[in-house]
Amino acid sequence: MSSGGAAAGASVRSFVASPSRRVGGTLRIPGDKSISHRALMLAGIAEGRTRITGFLDSEDCLATLGAMRAMGVRIERQDATTVIVEGAGDAGLKAPLHDLDMGNAGTAMRLSLGLLAGQPFTSRLVGDASLSRRPMERVATPLRAMGAQIDTTEGHPPVTVHGGVRLHGIRYELPVASAQVKSALLLAALYAHGVTEVIEPAPTRDHTERMLKGFGVDVLRDGPSARVSGPAKLRACDVDVPADFSSAAFFLVAGCLARQGELRLAGIGLNPTRTGLLEILHSMGADIEIMNARISGGEPIGDLIVRPSELRGIEVPGAIVPLAIDEFPVLFIAAACAAGETLVTGAGELRVKESDRIAVMAEALTCLGAEVQVLPDGLRVRGGALKGGTIDSHGDHRVAMSCAVASLRASGPIRILDTANVATSFPGFVALARTAGLIIEERG
Ligand code: S3P
Repeated sequence: MSSGGAAAGASVRSFVASPSRRVGGTLRIPGDKSISHRALMLAGIAEGRTRITGFLDSEDCLATLGAMRAMGVRIERQDATTVIVEGAGDAGLKAPLHDLDMGNAGTAMRLSLGLLAGQPFTSRLVGDASLSRRPMERVATPLRAMGAQIDTTEGHPPVTVHGGVRLHGIRYELPVASAQVKSALLLAALYAHGVTEVIEPAPTRDHTERMLKGFGVDVLRDGPSARVSGPAKLRACDVDVPADFSSAAFFLVAGCLARQGELRLAGIGLNPTRTGLLEILHSMGADIEIMNARISGGEPIGDLIVRPSELRGIEVPGAIVPLAIDEFPVLFIAAACAAGETLVTGAGELRVKESDRIAVMAEALTCLGAEVQVLPDGLRVRGGALKGGTIDSHGDHRVAMSCAVASLRASGPIRILDTANVATSFPGFVALARTAGLIIEERG
């Protein structure tokens, strides 16, 4: 698989992470990516002004911001993490004058398909090389059942959404556990006549449901089902974005793998539909404490304290997989440093993320000297000593950051290639990792 980097020369960027043993300090983790995307979209179609604080100033979220602006929404950036959105109202979006470029961002593209399906105008959505390989029929098929007219390119981007159709509610049982598909349908439901009911096979992140409530839309939740009656209007509602658990995850594993020190991560989003990794690491013997658990803007948050831990391999229960879906690259690193074997199955979705994370992580772990067995829907990893080596991240931000964390247990330097896409989710990762005690340099 080639690089997903859109920028010219993206693939020449690299990290070199040299062995280190100690991490410590209090870290400020950037804002949540999923919540930042949703805040821009809901604020953009609400009546009134929304102030978003803690916004994630990353390439993925800026793709959504650019798309909303291209559709006529006035957005002012007071500083890197404070964004003021003048909502255009339910009928206020305008036809974009050019293709909407979603870059590397699957969430931006899939949620936008739902938002655009009921608009009076036609739009075309494009993405970078990685996004252009990712499946879009999983969203287009149920949206068509609602009356939308959508053309994918053999199931992938570019995607054209034809405007001026009348949407109607449907009852849809999701064939895969996907918060992006669920959210796209709930966004389309705002423009559809009647009730849209989405039923998920397993719980997935519920930020859309929570935020819609904040914007004044009644979302009826009953076990695996979420229902919205449309058409519905949104009222502006300030959003305070918590720190991203998925970014904190690299430092949770780093804190466990370090031989000395203690890391404190403040104000981290702890929505139970996101924190599967905490549960998994606790079962592996991690010393992670949760302090000051509280609710902020409808989302649970808290502070995390992590200390060096002797991890043991486990069999990861299938039900947790969707609750930790973005954390498997770094979990595989933890598994490679744990005593005994870790088995992950039921995680076939990892094959359609920013890279095929089963194949790419198996290649990376093998290069670092770990013993792995690739399964169709997961990985078996035997823990042991790691060595240095050169790893191709295949343009996958989470693979790159996970392999940097492995330097806490490696006997030699780890060179990680094609790291430019770290900026899609975690700008400032290298600087923060250095503050924490990792010995990491960025090149290229
Ligand atoms: C996301 C949902 C997940 C996740 C992605 C963000 C979201 O994708 O992997 O990084 O914000 O809804 P799927 O819905 O494809 O599982």
